[in-house]
Amino acid sequence: MARTVIAQISDPHIVGPGDELFEGSDPVGNLTKALLHASQRTQHVLITGDCVARAGTDNEYKGFSDVLAATGVDVHLCAGNHDESVKMQSLYSLPSRNGRLDYTIDVPQGKVVVMDSARLGRGDGALDKDQLEWLDTELSDGAPALIAMHHPCFATGGPALDSVRLDNDSIAGLTEVVQRHHVMAVVSGHAHMTISAPFAGTTAYICPSVAYEFDFKGRDLIHRPGLPQYMQYSWGPGGSAFMARLVTVAPDDHWFVMESF
Ligand SMILES: [Fe+2]
Repeated sequence: MARTVIAQISDPHIVGPGDELFEGSDPVGNLTKALLHASQRTQHVLITGDCVARAGTDNEYKGFSDVLAATGVDVHLCAGNHDESVKMQSLYSLPSRNGRLDYTIDVPQGKVVVMDSARLGRGDGALDKDQLEWLDTELSDGAPALIAMHHPCFATGGPALDSVRLDNDSIAGLTEVVQRHHVMAVVSGHAHMTISAPFAGTTAYICPSVAYEFDFKGRDLIHRPGLPQYMQYSWGPGGSAFMARLVTVAPDDHWFVMESF
């Protein structure tokens, strides 16, 4: 079989109809372009949280649902700190365990394990003991796996971001599990920056926000809108030749569409 290709879009921060995220941003336009671009070039599209802008209101999810309906793209969803996980599970008929949005996607030549690191009302993230035991079981068949969640599992060096990453106990537990299995990558969002780092014998990636970047101006965190971006992960038989690629959807995009994977 040829290569498996998965797209990860993160942090679209969609606002309700008629609302604005901030001046100069276009979250709906950016997500629309990324979904259409990614769906033509990959076998599965995953959105790793902060599907909506601020507090998971019904109006925000109306905006998010409108984008999905307008593009017609099937997506796999993950909960972020600006989402309401339980509401998402209900709205989009998502699989879950014990109220958490934890589930596994079978993909060609492997699997994607989606984990719910969001905790309602908190910016930081966590994985509890039950979730880590479930992950251990999900990975025990030895199939090459991507693990996806909203919160990064490593420090970025920015205090404002690192104070809301996955907590230390969760990182320690995740490290133990990942080291035992065939994990090609642990992928997250949340930081609105593109970063990769070694993690537990594999590589952890932070996918940029498709809506806007964070940057530091002195001690302040600033927002910078830009072109839609997403990550593309691909691998061959048995998880061989794993690759991660940052994709930018240019306004004059003329990239070819892969005819086969
Ligand atoms: Fe975000």
